[in-house]
Amino acid sequence: MSNPAPAEAPCPLELRDVCVSFAPQRRTLLSRSRTTETVRAVDDVSLRLEQGKALALVGGSGSGKSTTAAVAARMLTCDSGTVLHAGEDVTHLGGAALRARRRHIQTVYQDPFASLPTRFTVRRIVEEGLLIHKIGAGAGEREDRIVDALERAHVPTALLDRLPHQLSGGQRQRVAIAAALVLEPAVLIADEPVSMLDVSMRAGIMQLFDDLRSTGTALLLITHDLPAAARHADTIAVLQQGRIVEEGDASTVLSRPAHPYTQALLDATPTAAPPRP
Ligand SMILES: Nc1ncnc2c1ncn2[C@@H]1O[C@H](COP(=O)(O)OP(=O)(O)OP(=O)(O)O)[C@@H](O)[C@H]1O
Ligand SMILES: [Mg+2]
Repeated sequence: MSNPAPAEAPCPLELRDVCVSFAPQRRTLLSRSRTTETVRAVDDVSLRLEQGKALALVGGSGSGKSTTAAVAARMLTCDSGTVLHAGEDVTHLGGAALRARRRHIQTVYQDPFASLPTRFTVRRIVEEGLLIHKIGAGAGEREDRIVDALERAHVPTALLDRLPHQLSGGQRQRVAIAAALVLEPAVLIADEPVSMLDVSMRAGIMQLFDDLRSTGTALLLITHDLPAAARHADTIAVLQQGRIVEEGDASTVLSRPAHPYTQALLDATPTAAPPRP
């Protein structure tokens, strides 16, 4: 009798029919303006992130990219739909079980000014995840892991004892990347991860993401930049007003965009400066 086919490994991250709305804000005594309409930030979004693959989520400002990322990382609970981590339904998971899951799904947030704890040094910021998840036999092993993660994220170890306000925006962004990397997550969600970096540093960090992908990490890469998405992702999903309007192979979406919104995003991408006469 032949052996049964091995069971397929569950996909590291999946969203099924996810919807998120934000309630209108109330008018306050000091503010005359108010939003009267509910914002449908994510509207029936389904995504699958495969091991060792990068999916780029692109769209204009306010299209719902960060909200989708927050639901995927279970930092936010969706109104309806399902979130699966490694095949397990985590849509309504809470408490210690959710904290344990977060080790495997790490996020680099869009705004490194808001996301780093102000009173922690760089060393402590990167160490925090190791302490929470009890990784590393002692202080010496943790220090090795911290230094390794900082080096991979191109952060000089001379910055180990600095506080976030003593760093540039780009340095903060790289510290946030190191804090995610140190946990060796199965899934890395990177929300505009290189927006504060100069061109040479961008290339280094994007190369790091390519390396992570080739060693099996699943990447959700969020960006406005469609050509960059095509260079560093396997598939692209285009979000417009919370809905996925186009999804497909990255180079095909770039070269033959099927939806007018994708074409408009491409037209809005700044092109390289023309050569000097
Ligand atoms: N906490 C909130 N309360 C109310 N509305 C929100 C909240 N967070 C996001 N929104 C709204 O939801 C929509 C999607 O926001 P989101 O931050 O996901 O967009 P984005 O695609 O990440 O934009 P950007 O490219 O500017 O970062 C926007 O209309 C935004 O104003
Ligand atoms: Mg955003």
